Amino acid sequence: MNIIEVNQLEKTYKNGFKAVDNINIKIEKGKIYGLLGPNGAGKSTLISILVGLIRKTSGEVFAFNEPISNFNKISQKIGYVPQEIAIYPDLTALENVMFFGALYGIDRKSLKDKAMESLKLVGLLENSKEYPKNFSGGMQRRLNIACALVHSPELIIFDEPTVGIDPHSRNNILESIMYLNKSGATIIYTSHYMEEVEKICDYVYILDKGKVIEQGTILNLYQRYTKILDSPIMVSITEESNLPDEIFKYCRLDIAEGSRVLIFNETSFKKIIEVLYSHSIEVNDIKKSNLNLEEIFLFLTGKTLRD
Ligand SMILES: Nc1ncnc2c1ncn2[C@@H]1O[C@H](COP(=O)(O)OP(=O)(O)OP(=O)(O)O)[C@@H](O)[C@H]1O
Ligand SMILES: [Mg+2]
Repeated sequence: MNIIEVNQLEKTYKNGFKAVDNINIKIEKGKIYGLLGPNGAGKSTLISILVGLIRKTSGEVFAFNEPISNFNKISQKIGYVPQEIAIYPDLTALENVMFFGALYGIDRKSLKDKAMESLKLVGLLENSKEYPKNFSGGMQRRLNIACALVHSPELIIFDEPTVGIDPHSRNNILESIMYLNKSGATIIYTSHYMEEVEKICDYVYILDKGKVIEQGTILNLYQRYTKILDSPIMVSITEESNLPDEIFKYCRLDIAEGSRVLIFNETSFKKIIEVLYSHSIEVNDIKKSNLNLEEIFLFLTGKTLRD
């Protein structure tokens, strides 16, 4: 089942700037989706439409089979963690989460328990009576997440939740997201940190200048671009082995961390193996250089994600 379906979506702001340009996406139940793109790609604009904050200019958006114009029918099912932290500094952590819970219509009886559950998930249970104005940026961010989870939403949308925070909070957030997903929630995760997207996402949409420029599972993308980008294969061989001249038709020799390494492209793989085998050259290790989403992005756009 598709929880979200977006067809030919466009958003032009009042000043005439088109921030979302013919976007089509599908979000299936139970998966973690990454929206990856540089500053200004249109990620927050797209998300703001999905959570009913701004109106689309044209196209179709369905969430839980309802047109997004009926957002009040589905708002209970969606949790939204905005890019800018939105919490009340003069309410305690617990009061903040309870406040959001009350907005979502959680009944008074279970409100405190639900709020405590949310705080526990983000690792702030012990800080429940403290005021967020004394929190670190990472703790404030985690509290913001707790506020978005209190009503146990089926779909949770995170807009760059790990920007500019300490590694402890960052790990806590990534682990919480994976936990929520294992417990059944569908996740949309926006980021320009490709390592995070690679670590937690099942499926990635790469955005640039308001368009989806590539999409697939991480494995799909690697398979597709390993061929195109031709990332090299490296074979370490023993110190004493004599290499026949013919092997240098297919590879170059390098020294890496004190050992001899043959470096070549996938197209030469078969030949290299044949030569190594026929000369009984012992192989210590085979590696393929790491292709990552950053390289794919660079290839597609000619710029880095953090330009
Ligand atoms: N209210 C607005 N009026 C006009 N232009 C806007 C408005 N909000 C955003 N934009 C522009 O739309 C483009 C997309 O912005 P958006 O915030 O969606 O990008 P983003 O991918 O979330 O970027 P970031 O990684 O910086 O958060 C940007 O060029 C931005 O300047
Ligand atoms: Mg944004």
